[in-house]
Parts: sequence; structure tokens; C-alpha cells
Amino acid sequence: MDVHALADFEALAREALSPEAWGYYAGGAWDEVTLRENEAAFRRRFLRPRVLVDVSRVDTATTILGERISLPVGVAPVALQGLAHPEGEVVPARVAGRTGLPYVLSTFSSRSLETVAAVGRGLRWFQLYVQQDRRIAEQLVRRAAEAGYRAIVLTVDLPRPGIRERERRHPLTETGGLGNVPHTEGAQFIDVIGGLMDASLDWDDLAWLRSLSDLPLVLKGILGGEDARLAVEHGASAVIVSNHGGRQLDRVPATIDVLEEVVAAVDGRAEVYLDGGVRRGTDVVMALALGARAVFLGRPFLYALAAAGEAGVTRAVELLREEVEAAMALLGCPTVAAVTRDRVR
Ligand code: FNR
Ligand code: LAC
Repeated sequence: MDVHALADFEALAREALSPEAWGYYAGGAWDEVTLRENEAAFRRRFLRPRVLVDVSRVDTATTILGERISLPVGVAPVALQGLAHPEGEVVPARVAGRTGLPYVLSTFSSRSLETVAAVGRGLRWFQLYVQQDRRIAEQLVRRAAEAGYRAIVLTVDLPRPGIRERERRHPLTETGGLGNVPHTEGAQFIDVIGGLMDASLDWDDLAWLRSLSDLPLVLKGILGGEDARLAVEHGASAVIVSNHGGRQLDRVPATIDVLEEVVAAVDGRAEVYLDGGVRRGTDVVMALALGARAVFLGRPFLYALAAAGEAGVTRAVELLREEVEAAMALLGCPTVAAVTRDRVR
């Protein structure tokens, strides 16, 4: 496969996808300032290596919520993976399981949570959107717990969808169906989602959500210290610093630029992860140095899936593994724990 960087999958995916699917996957909100900024902000930062450290063995393994993963990297929840591959979420979930990466399944996946769980081995979390009919969330959480998902990732930055012009120019109306919740085709997908969402959800509802299962709660979409503190006070086991890949409110900062504020507010009381714009092993180590325990990637795995199916996603993981190992070795960090604040400026 003539793919030597995650970015190489992008052009291949664009060719493979319909204009509607491409617009939905690649797009951000409004002027896409935040979408671009997520990647650009990593490139404005610089690493500070230390030398003459024994890096003959580099161990990239770590844990998240007590479970071992082989790289500090996971697959972010992304809706409608069936547009990229006939088997949809099943393929990246299988690759993640085989390679020791965590896989987060979207509420709005093309395949059902049970079908994805049937791939077997692997750490999987379920991403929850709370809809106006709260019984749907109650059923989803119960189903996820029964199917062996190990955490509920509540996405908190989508009370309604952001304004996404690419989608308006190329309306996505044929989704191929949803796996977890009933859905009728015809209207634009993102409008359907907007119509279902419970925009009244607030901090007081987290007690209800936590009562639905024993699974740890992860809040995805935290961008500042105040909300990070509230997340901890309301019992979250972890937060994901995320701006939804630039798809929600535009003109918010890159996630790497707010990570430290969140890490300071959480103050060790919960785990902190980051997503948005992670494209290189060097991005991964920068996020670790600034206090993230792990990072998640959305579009790169999606593009690898669209471009080359299972072989593509496998290649994406190989590339990331090689890059993270090389970055750690050259930074003078034989373990993930050794990637400390002083390694980035
Ligand atoms: C997403 N994301 C997302 N998040 C979520 O919580 N539930 C979802 O269903 C989706 N769906 C979705 C679809 C598509 C096409 C994209 C690109 C993204 C957001 C996702 O989990 C993650 O926050 C971003 O994708 C991270 O940014 P990068 O890695 O794509 O830059
Ligand atoms: C999106 C949703 C569904 O970003 O999370 O398209």
C-alpha cells in the first residue's frame, strides 16, 4: 500500500466516497476555522528531547480507566461508518481489538452495538447521545452494558448540530440506515439528528445517567476548566477535551491549546483525553506531555476505512505505532510515563 502517512489516506478517501459522504465526513462548522486550527496548533508547538537515555526498548502501552491498551491512542466515535465500507463500524472495531486500541462506538453507527460487539476481543466504549425520548438512552445504556461495552461516553457538545455548510451544499439524505435507533431516510441526516436531540440536558441529569448502569461515565466535549471541574464533581471518571473535530461551535480554540487548563482543573481526580487534529506520532507525544492520558482520532481512521477497508485501518494503526515509538525514542522517553511536561514548549 503506497501510504506512508495518515494524511495519504485523505485523497484516496475523497475519490472513494460520494460528494455527500465526503462533505459529511470532512466538513466542519461555519468557516471551518476550528477545524483547521486543531491541526495547525500542533504544528506551532515544539518538542524538547533529552539525549543519552536508554531507548533500546520503547514501551508504548498504557491504561485507560484501568484497562491496558497497546498505544495511547483510540478510535473516536464517528457516525455512519457504513458510508465508508459495507461492514461499517465492524471493520475498525475488529482492527482496534486485534491491535490493542480502544474503540468508541457512536450512537448513530450504521451497524448495531451488538453486531460490533460480536467482533470479539477488544476494549470498547459506547458513545451516547441523549434524545428527547429519554427511554432510548435508558435502553441504549442497558444494551451497551449487556454487550460488554466498558464505559459510557456522553457527548456534551451537541445539544444541536453546528451549522455545516458543506453538508448544506451536498445534502446527505441516504444513510443506509442506523444500527442502534430507528431512522427514516429522506431528510438531511444532520437535521434528523438535530430533531432528535434533547437540548434540555444539563448537569443535574448526570445523576439519572449514572443510575442507569455501573459503567464509568466519560464526558466528551469539554473545553475549559470550569466544565472540567463540574464534570469531576458530577462523578465523571474521565473527560475528553474535544471540539467535535471542528463540527460544532466554530472559532473555539484548538484542543491542544486548552488541554493544560483542563488538566489543571481536573487535578488528577479523573483521566483526561484529547481528540481533534491528531495526525502524527509527534502530535500524540505533545498531547501526552501536556497532560493527556491518551488521544483519539476520528477522520484518519475513517479515511483509511474508506480508502482501503480492513487493510487500510490496519495500516493506519501500524503507521501510528511506528511514529509514536520513534517519537518517544527520539524524545528520550522509553515509557509513556516518561513523556512529561518538560518535553514540549
Ligand atoms: C464525528 N464525531 C462524533 N462524535 C460523537 O461523539 N458522536 C458522533 O456520532 C460523531 N460523529 C462524527 C462523524 C464524523 C464524520 C466526524 C468527522 C466526527 C466527532 C469525533 O468523535 C471526534 O471528536 C473528532 O472527529 C476528532 O477530530 P479529528 O480526529 O477528526 O480531527
Ligand atoms: C456529527 C455527529 C453526528 O458530528 O456527531 O456529525
